[in-house]
Amino acid sequence: MITWKDKYSMGISRIDDEHKKFIDIINKAIVAKEHNNNPEELKEVLHEITIFAVSHFSTEETFMIEFNYAEYHSHKKEHILFSNTIIEFFNKIIDGDYQIADKIVECLKQWLINHILLTDKKYVGCFKENGLHLLHNHKLPIILTKVQLVIIPLKHHSHIKRN
Ligand SMILES: [Fe+2]
Repeated sequence: MITWKDKYSMGISRIDDEHKKFIDIINKAIVAKEHNNNPEELKEVLHEITIFAVSHFSTEETFMIEFNYAEYHSHKKEHILFSNTIIEFFNKIIDGDYQIADKIVECLKQWLINHILLTDKKYVGCFKENGLHLLHNHKLPIILTKVQLVIIPLKHHSHIKRN
């Protein structure tokens, strides 16, 4: 199981609280894997991660736009790639491939290490310069919460294992 560590902190409570939720979801994936890749649990994990991703990516991207963050586009691209990976996992589960629990857990862990610890850390300076760390329960401007997660349609399904 993964526990929250100080090194994961951005020093911005709004973002840290959301990242803590992400760790909770990784732990649910680990439990599903330990339960012999329980398909219902895996579907629940993917469902939760999808809802989390839409909301959390919207939070980050909204602040990036609001604060004119220079690396907005490359960061958003990583969000889109992650979302597409989750959709692929969903399709595999629907097709009865429950052996991908390992890959799901690995993907979520890698996201924590590579995205949160590296890519997300890059916006901390910009967000703090704009005072985000000084605010608690910072409300997003309504007009900007409409920033949507763009999902690129999957091109091929032929690689999906069918039982
Ligand atoms: Fe991010």
